This record gives sequence, structure tokens and C-alpha cells, in this order.
Amino acid sequence: MAKIAKELKERSFLLLDSLGNLKRTHYAGALRAAHEGQSVVLMGWVAGRRDLGNLIFVDLRDREGIAQIVFNKEAHPTAHWKAEQLRSEYVVAVEGRVMRRGKPNPELASGEVEVVASALHILNTSATPPFVIEDEISASEETRLRYRYLDLRRPQLQNNLALRHKVILEIRRAMDELGFYEVETPMLTRATPEGARDYLVPSRVHPGQFYALPQSPQIFKQILMISGLDRYFQIARCFRDEDLRADRQPDFTQLDVEMSFPTQDDVFGVIEQVMQRAWRVIGADVKIPFRRMLHQDAIRRYGSDKPDLRFGMELADVTPLFEAGRETLKFEGSVFALAAPGGASLSRKQLDELAEKAKSFGARAMYTIKVAPEGITSGLAKTLGEEAVKKIAEAAGAKAGDLVVAVAAQKQIKGTDNAALVAGQMRLHLAEKLRVIPSGQWDFVWLTGFPLFEWSTTEDRWVPAQHPFTGIIEEDLEKLETAPWEVRSKGYDLVLNGVELGSGSVRIHRADVQARLFRAIGLSDEQARSRFGFFLDALTYGTPPHGGIALGLDRTVMLMAGEKSLREVIAFPKTTAAQDLMADAPNTVPQEQLDELSIQVRLKNEE
Ligand code: AMO
Repeated sequence: MAKIAKELKERSFLLLDSLGNLKRTHYAGALRAAHEGQSVVLMGWVAGRRDLGNLIFVDLRDREGIAQIVFNKEAHPTAHWKAEQLRSEYVVAVEGRVMRRGKPNPELASGEVEVVASALHILNTSATPPFVIEDEISASEETRLRYRYLDLRRPQLQNNLALRHKVILEIRRAMDELGFYEVETPMLTRATPEGARDYLVPSRVHPGQFYALPQSPQIFKQILMISGLDRYFQIARCFRDEDLRADRQPDFTQLDVEMSFPTQDDVFGVIEQVMQRAWRVIGADVKIPFRRMLHQDAIRRYGSDKPDLRFGMELADVTPLFEAGRETLKFEGSVFALAAPGGASLSRKQLDELAEKAKSFGARAMYTIKVAPEGITSGLAKTLGEEAVKKIAEAAGAKAGDLVVAVAAQKQIKGTDNAALVAGQMRLHLAEKLRVIPSGQWDFVWLTGFPLFEWSTTEDRWVPAQHPFTGIIEEDLEKLETAPWEVRSKGYDLVLNGVELGSGSVRIHRADVQARLFRAIGLSDEQARSRFGFFLDALTYGTPPHGGIALGLDRTVMLMAGEKSLREVIAFPKTTAAQDLMADAPNTVPQEQLDELSIQVRLKNEE
């Protein structure tokens, strides 16, 4: 036997069995106590092997999880002998019987049983993987993405992709039942303005001309309303060349929705039902209708246009209480305060770190008040007086044991109060540090009442806060040219637990209003025509009032899966440098290919 084994090892291809007519009867990860006594055929990967001499234990992994297989030398010598050859990630088929385990393994869903193998078929070998494939992974993000096919074998990622599939399926069912048709819109198209840069695709047939990959199907879905489709949705791929973060990918997916003749409430109603059904996939009962909040209230109370409402810590504008100290404390702008629960026990060093944090968020200064059971203490008392300090603590709603944190920052020109935004970031930072955010809670909120424009400091002009097709509140229309900063839009956002899930609006449906809007954002009629002429034309042919929304599907699944990064719910994501490390994209292409496209590459630093 030893001689044969040696020979087989040397000619390892001989080790391999063929699948033949062997059929899998069960998923390894799905075996439970109820299967006890059944004969099974399992197929999967070797996740681990322990050799105790006469007994070899193998963890067999498949899509559904892991089951323990036992090879007994006395009972089944051939299977045992073959099991000696197994290494990590070999692909095998196992025939055997499900038995109850002497000592159940509570770590495994299949842990009450094991499979006693009577036959082993080695279907393929594997090179030694660069990391151990398990959920507690220590490999770097880079290695994981380079070997994504191995990373994806981890149960956590398998579960996330399964969840993603089920959520999309449920959404499609719900949209269908609500009377929406799924329509595909083109990938090769022209620029749609969503505020990011376009990915361009050169045309071979039209030298020097380019398609743009869609940043969203925005214009197409509006045209579908003009076409009379009435209710459209799409699980739509979108492409945006923008700076990436954990919640942004260059290539991502939206649940894109548009409907004709809707009020804002109609759009909300549809999305609430769809979200409620999607969340049932994870067994959560989401209450509808969702809460609603004006954008300005979100800024004032939470210092954010995507407020996390799972906890309180509301902000208080305490500027008037600080007036007396404006000279001495040398602050400019306004002051916002909040109470951090249990924060009174933070050390001097921690308070210094907090002040650094506040500065990094843009605060000019940070002040603190300790609210201890024996009394209120603060360096501010010297300048503002005991009474004012007490009032600040009261305004922030501080209780015994809390720390009141107040931050001062300059106001923006005709814009949001910076102090509120800084305080909003401090609120999130402190809530995380002091662990006050409850888990398993789903706090959806609709934000409405957005200003139509925001001032762009980089471009030195008013730019649309959302895309330029967002509807305008009728009574504000007359201020479009005279006081654009006062114009309110018909836009809305859906926010969940502090994450912007989606954004939409009731649209402009009149060609004359659309033309005025383009002028208001500094596009001449010629420029507007050259970029959106087809759309402006379409608007003149009987456009129904319409509106819709797009939800980030990756973000939705990320939150449901309890993940912090979109990369954990996308099969083949890109790095923060927008690279696909596995496929090694982007990359250079052969000169012939460039020639065919009439493209000459000149790198910036070669200029
Ligand atoms: P918006 O640009 O706000 O609106 O996008 C809608 C939602 O899409 C998600 N999202 C992203 N997800 C991952 N990576 C990205 N780079 C990324 N960018 C956006 C977010 C966001 O809320 N056409 C309009 C919608 C409409 O008006 O109907 C649009 O695309 O969750």
C-alpha cells in the first residue's frame, strides 16, 4: 500500500477520481439531527483535517456551511487511506451515513451530527491557499481581493451573497405586485448628470467619439414615463468615477423606480411596502409608514442630513448662552452642544483627544461641562457664570453622569451652520465611543424640504443639490432667478440608521421650467441643448407629472447583513483606488486596439 501511495503522490493526477454519475444528496452545511441514520453523498471543499492515526476528521465545506466527516481505518480502510492524502481546499465527494455526535459542536449549525464516511472520491487537488479560509480572517484586504475566489468561499461572504439574492428576488416580487415593469436601459449611452465623473467608452465606428456609462438611468426612466410606461423599476447598474469610501463603489447597483402622476406620498408608500417586505427576509418587522423630517430640522437637531435616529443625544443651539463670553473665549460663529451619556467619567487625556477630534471635524473650539451627581463643573463658569453653564447643560438635556460637549464653528455663507455639522459629527463619534447605539434597530426616516441649490465653493456658483431634474415647490418658482438659495425642491432622501439609502424627487415635467432651471445653474440654452436636447424635446411631447427614487441596493444589503463595507456584499468589488485586483483592471491595452479606436495615449506627467 505504501508503495502505491508514494507512486500516486508522485503522479498526483492519478489520485483524482471522476465525478461519474455520483449525485449529491445533501448540502454538508444543511445536515441536522433530523438526518440521523440517513445515507448521504456530500460534495465540497476540505476546510480542515485532523489526523489521529486510526481516525481522520475532515471539515467539509459547501455553500451552506460545514459538516464533520469521520474516516475510520478499521471500518473503511480505502476511504481512510485516501483521506490521508487530503489537503486544504481539495475538492471531494463523500459517501457515508449521518450519525449523532458524542459531543455536539455548538459552533457549527450541523454540529449535532457527523458523517461516517464509507467512500471518498477526490475530485480535484488545490494549490496551498494564501490564507486560511474561515470567517476570522487575518489576511489583508488586498490579498483577499486578489484571491477573491477563495475569499468568497468564506461562509460569511456566501451568506451575504445569498442574502443579496433573496432581497433582490423579494424586491422584484413586490415591485411586480405593485404594478411596476422592469425595463432595462442602455449601458452604452451619453452622460447623465449625477454629480460624478463619467466612465467613457470609445467608439470604434465613430472615431473620436465616446459613449458614457450611465451614472444612473435617470433620463431614460423619465423618458419611459413620457412613453406611457406608467410604472418602471430596474435593478440597475450604475457607474461613477468618484472618490471612493466604504459606502461607495465605482460600479454599483440601484433599485431604480419611477412612476407617473404620483404625489410624494405615493412614492413613499411604494418604497415603504417594498422595504418592509425586503426586511422580512432577515426576519425583521419594519414599522411603516416611516418617520419624516425636514432637512433643516435634521441639521438643527442632529447636525446631519442623514441623521442616525437609533439614539437621542440631540443638539442644542446654545449660541445666545455663549454671547457673554464671545470676547474672552475668542470664538466666531455659533455654538452647538450635546450631552454624552455617561461621559462625565472620561479622563483628562480622553477629553484632550475629544478636543482634537472636534478640531479635525472643523471646530474652532470645544468646551465641556461635567454633570456629576455632586454638581456641575466646567471651566466655562469663570467666563459665562454658573447660571449660564447650568442653562447650557439643561439645554443639552444632560443628566447626572453626562458630559456636555459644546463646539464653536463659523457659519457658512447663506448655508448650513457649521457648528451644527461639527456637533453632528461629535454626536456620532461620542455615541460610538460610549457605545450608546443599540443594535438590531431599524430607524428609517424620510428627509424632505431640501433647498434646490447649494453653493459650490469650488465652482463659485449655485449648483443643484440633487440632479437638475428635481421638481421645484410651485410657490418658490418665482425666486428661481432672484433668490435661488430660498427655493425649495420636491426632493427627498431615505435614510436608515445614519446611512443615505436612497434619493429621489417629484420631477420637473414642464419643458419651460426645465429650461429655466438649466439657465439658473449657468447653462446657456445652447449648452443645455447640446447636452440634453433630446430630453428637452421629449419633454415637449405631453410629459405626465412623474417622480421616483433610487435606492442603493448594495447599501441596503450591507446594512441588513450588519456589514460596514460595501465590499462585503458585492461579489467582485473594487479597492478604494478603483482597481479590480483579481482581474487586474484597469490596465493598458495593446497598441493595435488603441489604433483601431483612433486613440493616442499621452500621460499627464509626460506633458
Ligand atoms: P443618487 O445619486 O442620490 O440619486 O443615488 C441614489 C442612491 O444610490 C446609492 N449610491 C451609491 N451606492 C454605492 N456606491 C456609489 N458610488 C453610490 N452612489 C450612489 C446611494 C444613493 O442614495 N437618479 C437619482 C435618483 C432619483 O432621483 O430617482 C440618483 O441616482 O444609496
